[in-house]
Amino acid sequence: MTEHHSDRRCVVVTGASSGIGKASAEAFARIGWHVIATGRDPGRCASAEEDLRAIAAHGARVDFLRGDFAEMADVRRIAAEIAGLTDRVHVLVNNAGGVRDGLYMSSEGLEWTFAANHLAPFLLTRELLPLLERAALDSAAGTVRVIAVSSLGHMQCQAMRWDDLMMLEDFNAGPAYCQAKLANLLFTRELDRRLASKGIVAQAMHPGKVGSNFSSHGEASLQTYMASQDLIPPEQPARTIVWLATAPEAGQDGGRYFYDMAQAEPAPQGLDDEAAQRLWQESERILETV
Ligand SMILES: NC(=O)c1ccc[n+]([C@@H]2O[C@H](COP(=O)([O-])OP(=O)(O)OC[C@H]3O[C@@H](n4cnc5c(N)ncnc54)[C@H](OP(=O)(O)O)[C@@H]3O)[C@@H](O)[C@H]2O)c1
Repeated sequence: MTEHHSDRRCVVVTGASSGIGKASAEAFARIGWHVIATGRDPGRCASAEEDLRAIAAHGARVDFLRGDFAEMADVRRIAAEIAGLTDRVHVLVNNAGGVRDGLYMSSEGLEWTFAANHLAPFLLTRELLPLLERAALDSAAGTVRVIAVSSLGHMQCQAMRWDDLMMLEDFNAGPAYCQAKLANLLFTRELDRRLASKGIVAQAMHPGKVGSNFSSHGEASLQTYMASQDLIPPEQPARTIVWLATAPEAGQDGGRYFYDMAQAEPAPQGLDDEAAQRLWQESERILETV
């Protein structure tokens, strides 16, 4: 049922069936928001939805949607389903994504890592713009926000591979992931530049090394590496995500990068506004083909 305007704020959290997204969705439900969560795996979605409903504050509302973000048709369908549930989105948390153990192509001919980590949030944000803009019309400037869950891994990518963004010529899972996380930063900067006059702010964050399902989809070497690290619980980055969604200081000067509730310095290539504009154009071009 479409919800008409009330004082309750609405957040869309992607990748809420596990890890950081699940902990974030729970944190928003605890403080009484309308949480529209998305996930992919049927079993994980069902159990996350149950957990979310169990802890939701009185007055909160929970909706759970399912789709594969490597498939742009699924992203478009989910955006339409969201528009059937609310007429305003105050905060969009683009969190779904991860790393794979090799090259996987979607049914639409897109490489998984680039599609799920970059093209999906690009398209979902574009499709949800009318709902974000409607929320911004009757909200204080800077309180409607788009948050990207990027990664420190972006530092390992010196530049976008413009001649082969999906790295199809010589695919390697690690570099593909790092490039996609650099893309998250560039997208955030260009999005913020485009939306600032509408009172919508875009920020990006690194969650830290988090104990989640993350490495289970990756190569054995990544699993060994993550198992050797001191991992933080997903509730810790979730706190930063809620802070980015609500704190007054995060509602100014968009296009920034945060870690642990504080501004952080991204690699210089994450601040390249020319690359950010180019990525926007290239992403639109790729999406025209699917
Ligand atoms: N864990 C870390 O140390 C770390 C560090 C830096 C950045 N990050 C980033 O943090 C974000 C969340 O990761 P996490 O650590 O919480 O890992 P996770 O436990 O594996 O959670 C990832 C979430 O994204 C969803 N997802 C992944 N691929 C998807 C797809 N193709 N379509 C739809 N949903 C998809 C998963 O859905 P299902 O479970 O239903 O499949 C799950 O809900 C990712 O963007 C990741 O790159 C993580």
